[in-house]
Amino acid sequence: MKIENLSFIVKCEVNTVDVASRSTLHTSPSTLHCSLFTLRFSLISTIYTMKHLNIDIPVDFKQEDELDEQERKLLTEAKEATHRSYSPYSHFSVGAALLLDDGTIVCGSNQENSAFPSGLCAERTALFYANSRYPDHAVKALCIAARDTSGQFTERPVAPCGSCRQVMVETEYRYQQDIRILLYGQEGIYILNSARDMLPVHFDGSFL
Ligand code: THU
Repeated sequence: MKIENLSFIVKCEVNTVDVASRSTLHTSPSTLHCSLFTLRFSLISTIYTMKHLNIDIPVDFKQEDELDEQERKLLTEAKEATHRSYSPYSHFSVGAALLLDDGTIVCGSNQENSAFPSGLCAERTALFYANSRYPDHAVKALCIAARDTSGQFTERPVAPCGSCRQVMVETEYRYQQDIRILLYGQEGIYILNSARDMLPVHFDGSFL
């Protein structure tokens, strides 16, 4: 079955009193920089007066042959990166490929450790490397692919963990640049316009 424009809907209860104390969020200087960010936050501000907030998140579903050349290249790199995974404990090999604003592609893979929490996911390995090696270049797109214990690529599009989503969101704020997200599975590829779409009610620097 082919699904176009999948929609994830997140329902939240919004307490209007609580919201009033956060009304500065959408007017903070950092969010006024970029029109896309401003638009999103001003939309949120209009919803603040409501008791229930429905967040509609567009998720495209594409087959590999529907990707453009650059996206296909990123996917190839993410798949190849799974072969550089160090995952002797889970045998789940994840590869991430990032596209920077100058066209550079940076890859990462999950690096496990016998002390489990000391390991790191593929996405954060790639993001932290990119942000430290190329601090002046925004991340424009991120693609992930994973092979499971059978060695095959997952049927379903692989989903990033919460910590990786949080780091992706931080990277979007840092560079004021949405990151296009491609999640590969043999069934097809989920494509999201931004990391914030995967973590709609998130923590960010404006709370500090
Ligand atoms: N993993 C990732 O690399 N990325 C994710 O977003 C999900 C999980 C890794 C961590 C661990 O090495 C293995 O997959 C099993 O959880």
